[in-house]
Amino acid sequence: MLAGKRLLLIIGGGIAAYKALDLIRRLRERGAAVTPVLTRAGSEFVTPLSVAALAGEKVFTDLFDLTDEAEMGHIQLSRSADLVVVAPATADLMAKMAHGHANDLASTLLMATDTQVLLAPAMNVRMWDHPATQRNLATLLGDGLRIVGPNSGDMACGEYGPGRMAEPLEIVAAIDAALGQGPLTGKRIIVTSGPTHEPIDPVRYIANRSSGAQGTAIARALAALGAEVVFVTGPADVPPPAGVRVVPIETAQQMLQAVEEALPADAAVFAAAVADWRVASASGSKIKKDAGRLPTLEFAENPDILAGVSAHATKRPALVVGFAAETDDVIAHATAKRARKGCDWIVANDVSPATGIMGGAENAVHLITPEGCEDWPRMGKQAVADKLAARIATALAATQPADKTKA
Ligand code: CTP
Repeated sequence: MLAGKRLLLIIGGGIAAYKALDLIRRLRERGAAVTPVLTRAGSEFVTPLSVAALAGEKVFTDLFDLTDEAEMGHIQLSRSADLVVVAPATADLMAKMAHGHANDLASTLLMATDTQVLLAPAMNVRMWDHPATQRNLATLLGDGLRIVGPNSGDMACGEYGPGRMAEPLEIVAAIDAALGQGPLTGKRIIVTSGPTHEPIDPVRYIANRSSGAQGTAIARALAALGAEVVFVTGPADVPPPAGVRVVPIETAQQMLQAVEEALPADAAVFAAAVADWRVASASGSKIKKDAGRLPTLEFAENPDILAGVSAHATKRPALVVGFAAETDDVIAHATAKRARKGCDWIVANDVSPATGIMGGAENAVHLITPEGCEDWPRMGKQAVADKLAARIATALAATQPADKTKA
């Protein structure tokens, strides 16, 4: 799909630079031409010779190479590509970009380019979480740069958390999406995620233990394949992914309204842990303690958003995916839930405390479709999301795009 595309790949100085070698190989396999630029720090991790050998092109390493300046110049180099990819994008490179520094070839190219830029950040988890990096990230996203990753996991420095560079194939998918070539380009997909908060009074609420991690990973994976993602999220523990339209809500009723406003869509994935009940008698002012008298809460049933969208007369998405969080008889309950809610697929998981899935980094799911039940091995939530997104792309490939003019 990348045949004929020209990519300028800037390799920053981080241990993840070794993955840039595999990335070059994957890109060339897909027919892209890769012009590599290696920063001075990058060349401490991979050699110009290996980069050049894999790219099949000369490596650019120094701004003040007079021959190249005469032959091509950094301005032309920065503009002759269809996309500029920075992998790994180190904390230092991101800081330079956010502040407009141009003191070596890589940063000068990034300043001089009029081409879209995709960053694949990689750094120690503390460096990623540092307010300075997060400020720079916000600036760069505001400037319209695209980002893929970083992923969470064990890091070369021995710590655990976000900061690991996206895998080469994830970067390839993000490149496809940036070039408008992803398998989900042109498809709108609604993703609900996180818990809902149902107020008791202005300061108290009923909630559940959902972290929003699985829904967030699904939204990220769908966006990476090129989908226009409307991400309707309750108050989650994890930040929303880049590159999606975020619609923050608190209650189930607000979630329903946001989902209805986002229709029509080609697919909808209901990963949210929606509260089944709200407090019917929610108080407009704080409930005060009253000399030994206990308050009584009355509940009302919340609308079932998944069932409602599955039964929608005119705007039912071509593919509706629900989740089933169960603690026993997972497959039997989830199979019954698929029929009861009228959705196409159910992603079922066991959320018993012993599994550590709710709020944890991994998931072990069963995909229940009209054809039967598939057991997926336990894996990271992003890996589950990537696999599900790929399946959704295959399923939607055969469908007509939703008529967004009906919105
Ligand atoms: N769901 C929804 N709206 C609700 C409740 C659930 O859209 N009011 C969706 C969830 O996002 C999920 C699926 O329905 O995709 C199943 O949620 P779950 O809580 O497992 O099912 P319930 O219908 O609440 O059934 P039960 O609690 O009896 O297991």
